[in-house]
Amino acid sequence: MSRIDQLIGAMTLSEKLGQLTMTAAPYAVTGPFVAGDLSEGIKSGTIGNLLNLYGPEIVARTQRLAVEESRLGIPLLIGLDVIHGHRTLFPVPLAEAAMFDAALWTETAHAAAREAAADGVTMTFAPMCDVCRDPRWGRIVEGPGEDPFVGAAIAAAKVAGFQGKNLDGIAACAKHFAAYGAVMAGREYASTDISARTLHEVHLASFAAAVAAGVAAIMPAFTELDGVPMTANRELLQGYLRGQLGFEGVIISDYNAIAELMRHGVAADLAEAAALALNAGVDIDMMAEAYGDGLPVALERRLVTMDQIDAAVRRVLRLKERLGLFDDPYRSAGAESAADLAKRRVLARDAGAKSMVLLKNEKDVLPLTKPRRIALIGPLADAAQEMRGPWAAAAPLTGCATVLEGLRAALPDAEIEYALGVAIDGGAAEEAGGIAIAAALCDGADVIILCVGEAANMSGEAASRAHPHLPGQQQRLCDAIFEKAGGRPVITILFSGRPLIVPALVEKSAALLAAWFPGSEAGNAIVDLITGKVSPSGCTPVSWPRATGQIPVFFGERNGGRPINPADHYTSKYLDSENSPLFVFGDGLGYGRFAFSNLKLSATTLARSGTLAASVDVANEGGHTAEETVFLFCHDRLASVTRPLLELKGFAKITLAAGARGTVTLALKGTDLCFPGADLAPLFEPGEVEIFLGPAADRTRLVGATIRLVAD
Ligand code: NOJ
Repeated sequence: MSRIDQLIGAMTLSEKLGQLTMTAAPYAVTGPFVAGDLSEGIKSGTIGNLLNLYGPEIVARTQRLAVEESRLGIPLLIGLDVIHGHRTLFPVPLAEAAMFDAALWTETAHAAAREAAADGVTMTFAPMCDVCRDPRWGRIVEGPGEDPFVGAAIAAAKVAGFQGKNLDGIAACAKHFAAYGAVMAGREYASTDISARTLHEVHLASFAAAVAAGVAAIMPAFTELDGVPMTANRELLQGYLRGQLGFEGVIISDYNAIAELMRHGVAADLAEAAALALNAGVDIDMMAEAYGDGLPVALERRLVTMDQIDAAVRRVLRLKERLGLFDDPYRSAGAESAADLAKRRVLARDAGAKSMVLLKNEKDVLPLTKPRRIALIGPLADAAQEMRGPWAAAAPLTGCATVLEGLRAALPDAEIEYALGVAIDGGAAEEAGGIAIAAALCDGADVIILCVGEAANMSGEAASRAHPHLPGQQQRLCDAIFEKAGGRPVITILFSGRPLIVPALVEKSAALLAAWFPGSEAGNAIVDLITGKVSPSGCTPVSWPRATGQIPVFFGERNGGRPINPADHYTSKYLDSENSPLFVFGDGLGYGRFAFSNLKLSATTLARSGTLAASVDVANEGGHTAEETVFLFCHDRLASVTRPLLELKGFAKITLAAGARGTVTLALKGTDLCFPGADLAPLFEPGEVEIFLGPAADRTRLVGATIRLVAD
């Protein structure tokens, strides 16, 4: 008999339910701790898994309670939200999406996993796979942006990075399944009501990619989808995930989500809630005490069976076994050295620089050429804590480099004068003096750097914003600085967890760098870019609206029967805004200037089982070495169901010295061109398809050709 069968055979019901329970460790000033009831629960086997615990000593002490003092000695799974780093912070996920670099996506996840494992963590609740087209939603910061192809690529890269080979890293958990990014009006925890087509075309691909990459766990979203809470969504958890995708890993609820089935109005009591979740396929109850308290009653009422409980326990034990916890419950805890940490900082600086998006650079004002006197202004210029972004795992509050520190280190001969101006979200009354002091710094400065944007906690969970503009009095500060600047260039560094709606700021800044929240090396990475040590290469993974009323605005929209025609009143447009976003998916400048030409296809026909190579010549006509991202889009103009105007099917990078040219080749498989047919099953439909290559989702900048899809 296998170890797992033996254990299940020996377990009492309460020990089984313990394996299906994940409880949070409380936090004191000194860090997370485990004591009292929690210790007793672990020893009695009623708590089989913990979250929010880290640190080699406390984890080892706690693991010892389970392994040496519980009846069956089953080790605990220790989960933590290691989202974009652990002790070293990398850019927030939306920023990482802007890197369009699968190897780097994997590398930062791998680094985070190693740091977390050294702290005793065995599972992260990442990657967040929720595609989102609504910048009001705060959790857009945690995800891949607007596009399902990018979502899938990141999911696969991150699972590989976190888990390593054969789970020698930490277990990854793809979340939040599914369509959480489409909550109504961008309001956190609101319901989701989308078409089955949108679900299949937009929201499932990243989860399918995570499963294909071998993800260990999946977390259902807090939200309901078309009237069925995801925690109780049997059709999608059992039918799609386990059935269609063949997912055999662990499904773990979100925090207290099983008990919330009562609030959703689908369960009368905890026993019903627990039964709904277990029947839907949820194995672990995070923090609701629904399985421990509710499942015994549900068993009595015959709402669930012992076989179902055993199957869930088996999946949890199997994960512990695959992680090697039975053989080495303490794994690599404590294994990190100072040299390892130093290496992570180098990686964080590289990723930081690659994640930022230069949205404007009028008259090539950047890179700066040896400024003598810099006026550095704004509430985010010296805000180390904000650089961490909304999920900071075990990173210290003070550990991130600020722009002020970065400038001082890189330009020791420059005179740098700094003023906060206004608080990030301050009120009008207290700010008048601050604005005047900041504006005065402009006198005599040869360059003015404005560091403005959101606080880290204005995005992330429970951080939706109906007005995703510059918060507080920052626009007033900016207006005063622009006025005082006269003809001198104002370089704006914009920090945010979402695309902000800032058309006036863009118009008046000579250059604008979207820095998102870059993590531990924030200030150094920013200064690497603005001084020209590194050429910016990030491309926005999400459209930047001109106005809140345009939301959702994204490149994958459909033509409709009356597409926009400015000359025709009765076409699809606004009376008071352009249709297009201010910045489109893929936008991002560098210090090179790239021209695309000579699109070549290896064939003009493509069968479902075939592959085609599409290549384009890229020339750097600018004066600096720089990297360019080349995107491959397609458009099926005539199909049995309407298709988006552009669909992303690939991307690749090329680095070219000034004046150099090269060729980028991307592969396109026939299966890449399948789409959900009228019955939502993947359909390969013979006919013409346009292929485009170029720098962004903007037809005017793409080079294109037509191919013909043919039957095999
Ligand atoms: C709630 C969040 O929705 C989820 O993403 C996170 O993993 C859990 N809390 C645990 O912290």
